[in-house]
Amino acid sequence: MSQHKSDSIIPVITVDGPSGSGKGTICKLLAATLGWNLLDSGALYRLTALAAKHHGVALDDEDALQVLAAHLDVQFLVNDSEEEIQVILEGESVTRELRLEETGATASVVAAIPAVRDALLNRQREFAQSPGLIADGRDMGTVVFPGAQLKVYLDASVEERAERRYKQLINKGLDASLDVILIDLKKRDERDMQRAVAPLKPADQALVLDSTSLSIEQVLEIVLEEARHKGLR
Ligand code: DC
Repeated sequence: MSQHKSDSIIPVITVDGPSGSGKGTICKLLAATLGWNLLDSGALYRLTALAAKHHGVALDDEDALQVLAAHLDVQFLVNDSEEEIQVILEGESVTRELRLEETGATASVVAAIPAVRDALLNRQREFAQSPGLIADGRDMGTVVFPGAQLKVYLDASVEERAERRYKQLINKGLDASLDVILIDLKKRDERDMQRAVAPLKPADQALVLDSTSLSIEQVLEIVLEEARHKGLR
C-alpha cells in the first residue's frame, strides 16, 4: 500500500467505526492526552450536506455536490470559555445544525458519492500536521491515511450504540425515541458499510475493539497502551 508524504512523516492514529461507537469521545481524549491535532472527518461530510441544503442542491446532483465539497468555506473557531468548537459555514454558525441526527443521515447519503469523497480527500490529508494527528471517521485507516502508524476500529453492538445515543439526547433535554434511533442507526450502518467506495470496514492490521461492555476510560487506556507499544508516546 502506498505511503503518503503527509502520513509517512507525521505520526497518525486512525479511529474508524460505526455511528455511536464512541469514536468522537475517544478521539477528543486521545488528541488532548497526546497534544495532537484532531480530524473529525464526519464533520466535512456533514458540512457538505448542510451546504447542499442551504443552496437547495438535490442529494442526487452529484456534480453540484462535488463542487460544494471542493469549495467548502468553513472555519472552526476554538473558544477557551466554551467546550464546543464553533463551526462557521459561509459566514453563518452551523454548530448546532451540524450535530443533528438528520444532518448525519444526509451526510451518509452524500458520502456515498465517489466524487464527493475525492473532493474531500486532500483537505483531510492536510490535517496531518506536527506533532501528530488523531483521525476520526469511516475510511481513515483504509483510504485517507493508509500508512498510519496505529489503526483502531471501534465497534459496539447496534443496541448499545442506540442506547448511548438515546441517553445523550435525553440528557440534553431533547425528545427521543429509542426505537427510531435504532432503526436510523441500522439504516446508516447499512449505507456506510455497503457503499461501493471506501465502505466502513476495519483496515488490515487494525486493532479491533468492541466497546459494548467497556468504559470510555478502558478503551482510552487500551489505545494509549498500544500507542506506547509502537513508540508513539
Ligand atoms: O461520524 P459522523 O456521524 O459525523 O459521520 C456522518 C456520516 O458521514 C457517516 O454516516 C458517514 C459519513 N462519513 C464517511 O463516509 N466517511 C468518513 N470518514 C466520515 C464520515
